[in-house]
Amino acid sequence: PKVLAGKHLLITAGPTFEPIDPVRGITNLSSGKMGYAIAEAAYRAGAQVTLVSGPVAMPAPYGVQRISIQTAQQMHDAVMANLLTQRQDAFIAVAAVADWRVANASDQKLKKNSAGDLPQLEFAQNPDILASVAAMDDAPYCVGFAAESEQLLEYGAAKRLKKNVPLLVGNIGHQTFGKDDNELILFDEHGHHALPRASKTALAAMLISELANRLPH
Ligand code: C5P
Repeated sequence: PKVLAGKHLLITAGPTFEPIDPVRGITNLSSGKMGYAIAEAAYRAGAQVTLVSGPVAMPAPYGVQRISIQTAQQMHDAVMANLLTQRQDAFIAVAAVADWRVANASDQKLKKNSAGDLPQLEFAQNPDILASVAAMDDAPYCVGFAAESEQLLEYGAAKRLKKNVPLLVGNIGHQTFGKDDNELILFDEHGHHALPRASKTALAAMLISELANRLPH
């Protein structure tokens, strides 16, 4: 039998897009490839998969239900609404969620003026989706990701504790964004162990079998 048969998984992927005005915004270089590969691997392993995705250039993986959003707040709301109606066995937060949104986004396109006045952007902090889910009563098994540029071993273990998740996956360096391969380190209650450098597709399959081993049967 498939290792995730009968399991329900909720996954976030991609960047978020935080508007400045109707035609401009702030985003990041996440391609969504890692999250989409994990969603596809989970479907192949027999799970029912819901993918909450920021704007990416890829089609929804075959068999996966995709909910497309733009902002971090919309991603948060879509995740919470899903968890109200659907029991999920695991939540995997792969998205590169913007930490801040523009608090004074304009309803109309910002215009240059002859005086050369500059727009004054103000920021507000976005909700931490992973931490919110991990803090729920009856939380699904939560998996977080960390993209650090240095001291991954220290930061990865610390982030696992701070987010209060049983499994945290570290990407080595910032080399991952947009790339087809990656190198992952898993942090759990026993410590850490590295998966070999491989394609995101291969790593997704490895991660799904690691997850399946950790879920109650
Ligand atoms: O704190 P940091 O952004 O480094 O944590 C990364 C992890 O937290 C990833 O799993 C990411 O998807 C998740 N996250 C989130 N909501 C945020 C920020 C990060 O779910 N607002």
